[in-house]
Amino acid sequence: MGDLRTVILAAGKGTRMRSDVPKVLHEVCGKPIVEYVLDAAKAAGSLKTYVVVGYKGDAVKKQLGSGPIMIRQPKLSGTADAVRRVAGHLKNYRGDVLILCGDTPLLNKTVIKGLVVKHKNSKAVCTFLTAAVGDPQGYGRIIRDDRGKVVAIREDKDALDHERNIAEINVGVYCVQSRALFGVLKRIRLNEKKKEFYLTDIIDLFHQDGSRIETVMTEDPVEGLGVNTKEDLAVAERVIREKILKNFMRDGVTIVDPATTYIDADVKIGKDTCIRPFTIVEKDVRIGDRCVIGPFARLRPGVRLGNGVEIGNFTEVSRTKIGNKTLMKHFSFLGDALVGSAVNIGAGTITANFDGVRKNQTKIGNGAFIGSDSILIAPVKIGNKAVVGAGSVVTKGKVVPDGGMAVGVPAQIKARRERG
Ligand code: UD1
Ligand code: MG
Repeated sequence: MGDLRTVILAAGKGTRMRSDVPKVLHEVCGKPIVEYVLDAAKAAGSLKTYVVVGYKGDAVKKQLGSGPIMIRQPKLSGTADAVRRVAGHLKNYRGDVLILCGDTPLLNKTVIKGLVVKHKNSKAVCTFLTAAVGDPQGYGRIIRDDRGKVVAIREDKDALDHERNIAEINVGVYCVQSRALFGVLKRIRLNEKKKEFYLTDIIDLFHQDGSRIETVMTEDPVEGLGVNTKEDLAVAERVIREKILKNFMRDGVTIVDPATTYIDADVKIGKDTCIRPFTIVEKDVRIGDRCVIGPFARLRPGVRLGNGVEIGNFTEVSRTKIGNKTLMKHFSFLGDALVGSAVNIGAGTITANFDGVRKNQTKIGNGAFIGSDSILIAPVKIGNKAVVGAGSVVTKGKVVPDGGMAVGVPAQIKARRERG
């Protein structure tokens, strides 16, 4: 498809979020907003991505790691100034530049890919994405002449009364021929009202030059959402959550009640696993096939479940690996544990994993039986096929041998399991 490079604008503070966290690092379904934008760039076939950072740039840099090239915008002088910061890096580049805003997590990858293809095929100088929204407030409005040709983008603050009702808005996705882009950027004047250089002014300038401008409109207007407020953040959360659940159902996961099921982005769940109502599965969790999770379960980051595992009601699991066919059906907490297969975790079992200073590990071997209401004060090791009697407290550092037994408070360790 030819060379394509992407610039993601992520320097803004996000004043309207009223937060100390840079806007693009706010999470939607456990994943920072800007990561969704990076995914869209990758899907569009971008070979190199430049992220322009400013407000708390180090934090953004840390989050994004070494993949994209980070560029600083020393002063937040507007979106045009932000793109200009990349000019030096693209001096000898003749291909197209895809520009995305770091605050638009709902972009549809297929639509972005389509936009790039249309841009290349039509040989336009600039192709950009629009959406027809119910409430255009806050967005740049698309100004067209009587023949429907785009002449400009008018920012919300500068819109005249009759322009305020225009429903077609600028999403903030532009594909532009590199040389034309950096040429026209030099001609953008400071917007006196906002004291910023507006990237959107490129449209007016290209129109004046008689350069070809094309647009693509999103089918679903919500895809154009720019997250500027906490309310927008909640809308993005809802939309992505629905998409995540739909994808799981398509792949054979049973979601009994999507309305009360919360699963973060990039979670993996095997087929024929059933997620019952009121369940939360956070990021960095992998669940095998044929598991039953919930109702009222919370799986936190670092959880790995084998196949056929059951995690029942009022349970929390964190940074824990659990083998096949292990059951933990009621009122339990497992944190920092390594649990084998076919283990029974009795109702009310708690791993006391935190000693006030550090988190310690609990190991439970295959086929072990942990009686109801046991407390395992980590670090402890329960051997294969060992038994912990109901109500026992296994104290710090104890090892129950394979086939052994622990009973009482504090638990006495016996080498052999007593069979009743
Ligand atoms: C911008 C567009 C508007 C569009 C909307 C879509 C401009 C002038 N306006 O408005 O037409 O409808 O997005 O969501 O472009 N940023 C920087 N450096 C800066 C300023 C902003 O990197 O100096 C980044 C921000 O971090 C953000 C993006 O650019 O990710 C857009 O900035 P924002 O302030 O959200 O612009 P909007 O008012 O939403
Ligand atoms: Mg915005």
